[in-house]
Amino acid sequence: MIVTVTLNAALDRTLSVPNFQAGTRNRASDALTLPGGKGVNVARALKRLGEPVIATGLAGGRTGTSIIEGLTEEGILNDFVRIRGESRTSTAVVDPNGRQTEIIEYGPAVGEDELGVLLEKIRYLARGADMFVLSGSLPRNVPDDYYAAIVRELKGQVYVALDAQGPPLRVGVGADPDLVSPNARETEEIVGYEFSEDDDLVAAAETLTSMGAQSAIVHQADGCVARVREPGAKSAVTYRVLVPVKEALSTVGSGDAFLAGYLTGVTRGEDARSRLTLAAACGIANIQTPGAGVFERSEVDAQRRQVQVWEVEAAPAGPPP
Ligand SMILES: Nc1ncnc2c1ncn2[C@@H]1O[C@H](COP(=O)(O)OP(=O)(O)OP(=O)(O)O)[C@@H](O)[C@H]1O
Ligand SMILES: [Mg+2]
Repeated sequence: MIVTVTLNAALDRTLSVPNFQAGTRNRASDALTLPGGKGVNVARALKRLGEPVIATGLAGGRTGTSIIEGLTEEGILNDFVRIRGESRTSTAVVDPNGRQTEIIEYGPAVGEDELGVLLEKIRYLARGADMFVLSGSLPRNVPDDYYAAIVRELKGQVYVALDAQGPPLRVGVGADPDLVSPNARETEEIVGYEFSEDDDLVAAAETLTSMGAQSAIVHQADGCVARVREPGAKSAVTYRVLVPVKEALSTVGSGDAFLAGYLTGVTRGEDARSRLTLAAACGIANIQTPGAGVFERSEVDAQRRQVQVWEVEAAPAGPPP
């Protein structure tokens, strides 16, 4: 069983607005509302891949109720801590002819007592789980080391994957999670330099593992660089994964679908190449359909052929953060 943890769960609205223009009145041709927040998206993708999953996290107010009801309607098992604050709504405006605009609210303020209840729930769920996914931003008043505290709590007991950004990622990596999976932009912020070529990504993945993560995947639209250390192995192997960059219907949640694919491979005991191929195929499948973590399994199978994976020379770690 995999448990996803979403502290900043959201109600995600995706509006299709042909020829969207800021500063004018726009009409949406289509609207889709789904429970969201990165961990929730990962849970949706895992369910589509046939992996047993429970979504936990924090949800509050009417929006929190809608998130929980929405998950239940989708048949995604969930066990959220109800909080006093109101969960956020996130809006993505997707122009079928062009760009995508995202408007992300901050999310509720969370009490120390509420964080304590969540930690208790996590301990309880860990007794029946093989894997935890900690994903997304932290709402207000949550200390930057909260993910690190969860990783320390769970380490050695279950496999822990972390997908975050900024200080929660920086501090979380130091707690030695099994996997970190930030996108290239988020990784640039951690390592402190901009990427212009593949070697920069390779060095950054090396930096993330030298900071503590067992394995690190740095992804972007054209695939990823993954530095993978198998359990018990002394050294890590670095891979480059390449996919053809396509016109996207909506890219929201492609990193979440990617992570769900990789973790599915881990639970099935697949080798690194096969895990990375499944991950990238899920990322591509996600962009063909509106909704984060929404894709057809047949599409994932079809996209596997588009994915190239090869081993690359490890580069020295980039400048220390
Ligand atoms: N335009 C695209 N064409 C083909 N594949 C894509 C495209 N965008 C994303 N993908 C697939 O999805 C994976 C993850 O994408 P990306 O790194 O952009 O995610 P992300 O920025 O973390 O997204 P989010 O945080 O919204 O989930 C890529 O490695 C690739 O496999
Ligand atoms: Mg992401």
